[in-house]
Amino acid sequence: MEDEITFSKVFGEGGEIRKYFAPGRVNLIGEHTDYNGGHVFPCALSIGTYAAVRKRTDRKLRFYSVNFPDAGILETSLDDKAFRRELDWTNYPRGVVWAAEEAGYKADCGFDVLFRGTIPNSSGLSSSASIEVLTGYFLADLYGFDYDGIVNAKLGQRAENAFIGVNCGIMDQFAIAMGQKGHAIFLNTGTLAYEYAPLDLKGVRIVIMNTNKKRGLGDSKYNERRAECEKALQYVQQTFPVQALCELTKEQWAVAKETIPSVTLRKRAEHAVTENLRTLAAYEALKKGDLTAFGRLMNESHISLKEDYEVTGRELDTLVEAAWQQAGVLGARMTGAGFGGCAVSLVQEDAVSSFVTNVGQIYREQIGYDATFYEAETGSGPVRIG
Ligand code: GLA
Repeated sequence: MEDEITFSKVFGEGGEIRKYFAPGRVNLIGEHTDYNGGHVFPCALSIGTYAAVRKRTDRKLRFYSVNFPDAGILETSLDDKAFRRELDWTNYPRGVVWAAEEAGYKADCGFDVLFRGTIPNSSGLSSSASIEVLTGYFLADLYGFDYDGIVNAKLGQRAENAFIGVNCGIMDQFAIAMGQKGHAIFLNTGTLAYEYAPLDLKGVRIVIMNTNKKRGLGDSKYNERRAECEKALQYVQQTFPVQALCELTKEQWAVAKETIPSVTLRKRAEHAVTENLRTLAAYEALKKGDLTAFGRLMNESHISLKEDYEVTGRELDTLVEAAWQQAGVLGARMTGAGFGGCAVSLVQEDAVSSFVTNVGQIYREQIGYDATFYEAETGSGPVRIG
């Protein structure tokens, strides 16, 4: 109701206003594997992005965010198909309108849209993929496009890659478009085969720890890491006919790594290959209810992201290393792209409160400002809510 009132104040009364929601995501394990043909294991969250939308009779697109009220209404049109820096965050939904049109899903009139996000920005919990998938979802509903969640996820990824300029994989958009409450998604990013895994955590909570160090994927070293993996793959392909690093078995990698002359490239590929194997092992551990093994794999994942992939940094390492020292912690690691953003930990229910106090204190002492903690609640994919 609140959003509808604000919508009418901002854009004027009248017409049919439709409302939608799409979640954010947290990745439990399988980091930087989704552009290397590997496995990931994310779940959708109950926090996310809301939209209130009304069709227009002309070709204008008007955007407003409750999170950035000072920016006011940002206006453009269906005919403007270029990324525009001054249009700021609206480039995410604009990119999806563009990607949909390129794929043959042409909107025949514009819209006014109000967004409200409950995911902290630049936290690594995918506020950008959330707004992309939400846009893909409401476009389909408003204009009668008949694509499914997987196509919607691909439109979001295309927008991110070709409109925004971040060479991301499919994980975030897929986790958001296909999320199911109470489940993580075990996804093979090479084939897009997936399974839902019930998150039966038996008295263990998923605690998300935010470094409050902002990161933007565009200006991070994300694209550089991806390019390094592609170079490493070229060396590997001289020995093994694989399409992606994560197709390698442990034994093949032991042979292939000797053919990569650069230490840096070898380390990047080492992470990709071993992280994929850890993700497979973590899924098996969860199926057996072995959360101790799952947590140990999370810890190993963080070490690999720190030492071989070099995407953690002081803030994430401080949080994760402080988490490892606490009683009742099964595992902790950075989540998402890295370079700031969030970490994720598995903590026994009765230890959560002392965990938050102790880790929070260590972080403040060492970094000089506060971290924020959230108990993750899982959520489902996009939905129309009014
Ligand atoms: C970001 C990207 C994803 C994935 C992760 C790292 O979230 O959007 O595609 O590569 O980083 O696992």
